[in-house]
Amino acid sequence: MTNSDVLIIGSGVAALQLAVRLNKDLNVRILTKSSLRTANSYLAQGGIAAAIGSHDHPSKHVIDTLEAGRFQNDRAVVEQIINEAPSLIKDISSLGNIFDKNQNGDLLLGMEGAHSEKRIVHGGGDATGKNLMEFLISRLSKNVIIEENTFAFELIVNKEKNRCSGVKVKKPDGTIQIHYGTHIIIATGGCGQLYSYTSNAKTVSGDGIVMAYLAGAEIMDMEFIQFHPTLLYINGETKGLISEAVRGEGAILVTSDGTPIMEGIHPYKDLAPRHVVSQTIYEYLKNGKKVFLDISKIENFQKRFPSITSLCEENGIHLADGRLPVAPGCHFLMGGIKTDLIGRTSFDGLYAIGEAACTGLHGANRLASNSLLEGLYQGEKLSEWINSARFKSLDLEHLPVPISVNKNNVILPDIAQLKALMMERVGIVRSEMALLKQKAWLGQFKVHEINEWDSFSVSELTKLFMLIIAQLITESALQRTESRGGHFRSDYPFEDDRNWLRKSIIHKHNREM
Ligand code: SIN
Repeated sequence: MTNSDVLIIGSGVAALQLAVRLNKDLNVRILTKSSLRTANSYLAQGGIAAAIGSHDHPSKHVIDTLEAGRFQNDRAVVEQIINEAPSLIKDISSLGNIFDKNQNGDLLLGMEGAHSEKRIVHGGGDATGKNLMEFLISRLSKNVIIEENTFAFELIVNKEKNRCSGVKVKKPDGTIQIHYGTHIIIATGGCGQLYSYTSNAKTVSGDGIVMAYLAGAEIMDMEFIQFHPTLLYINGETKGLISEAVRGEGAILVTSDGTPIMEGIHPYKDLAPRHVVSQTIYEYLKNGKKVFLDISKIENFQKRFPSITSLCEENGIHLADGRLPVAPGCHFLMGGIKTDLIGRTSFDGLYAIGEAACTGLHGANRLASNSLLEGLYQGEKLSEWINSARFKSLDLEHLPVPISVNKNNVILPDIAQLKALMMERVGIVRSEMALLKQKAWLGQFKVHEINEWDSFSVSELTKLFMLIIAQLITESALQRTESRGGHFRSDYPFEDDRNWLRKSIIHKHNREM
């Protein structure tokens, strides 16, 4: 058993920004299910959006964010975060040499989909996430303990006091440990691994969100999944992200015979919002055609995109051919644990930040490069809140937490099949028939009958939690009888503002554990 002032579950940008900015007299523990550097943030290529160009203004960035989010966003949240983006970038930039600059020392700004201006600050060409993560890791001080290979699976919650005070974790050898904390922060990211085509790190399978759900926190907007248009696609498998910044530098999407596919689809063509581009590519692939990113017009590709160059080389794709085979894949979850701007949930002492949280910034589809921004913003603001003396010592009773030894008798899914079915039935294009089939398929595993989690191994827990998050997405997608942003229903192909604008589907688990 351990006792910390602040317990952070997950180790992406939001988690590390928080850890770095907490007062040094707080004892902070980061629990991460794999290693410190295994996080989606580390893979982030494009960059961080901030209206710092001479023709730009935060009000334009706000409009772009709302437009991409199809006005499902919380406008007040959007304005707060976007207005602070320039100062967040300035602060970080003054502390470390993370971002790419021109010879005069001005930040270089890239272009990405659905942005009306060049405003993407990037580092190491296309290694922004890695640069930012290494910068934050280098600033962690001794008050932060890092525990790797530690799978958090159950929150300790006192429902009468509406208070979260700790978490149960499982170690690789199967032992269970209890970690208590005054402040428990879920920063475990989204659930990209639920889909067979994904840009996400191997570890990102939704467990933090499921843990909050099972504890009784509110989960919202789960039907809004972003499919990134361009993952490298070889022999029916996706191999990693090809940043939208590549299209920002002039690449276009074409068929095998070189016909551009985004002409006449949207005024921004290849830089249309991601759901528009992904749905267009999806239709081509469904009809047996191949889609390529034509990069032949980009000068110095290797220098501007070193990570993508390596990805292509590792997979036997020759840049000299001038085109990269692509397919859309799951990239980002707009929904998640319902929080306010700085990450507070409906339980005292429990917070969610980064992709695991649903603040209302992203609406129905996230604008490119707004996610590292949200992580940085929330990490900073939550640190300020926790640092304020009022919240340092809450009186906690640490009653013994029982550990169960009863093995549940459950069937576990084949994960490859789960991922393929989610892609097919709850993916880029959905319909009532497919969603009902998926609901029935998921129902056979009877996860709702499980009333204890202690006796499962990490791998079993991962599968069970994937089933639960799949159920939340499928159920939300069934209920939302319209199309909006990352949620497209072929049987309800239009936005229905009268019935659905700014309405959210919320899940709350009521069973006593
Ligand atoms: C990309 O580089 O295309 C991804 C950036 C993002 O998801 O914001």
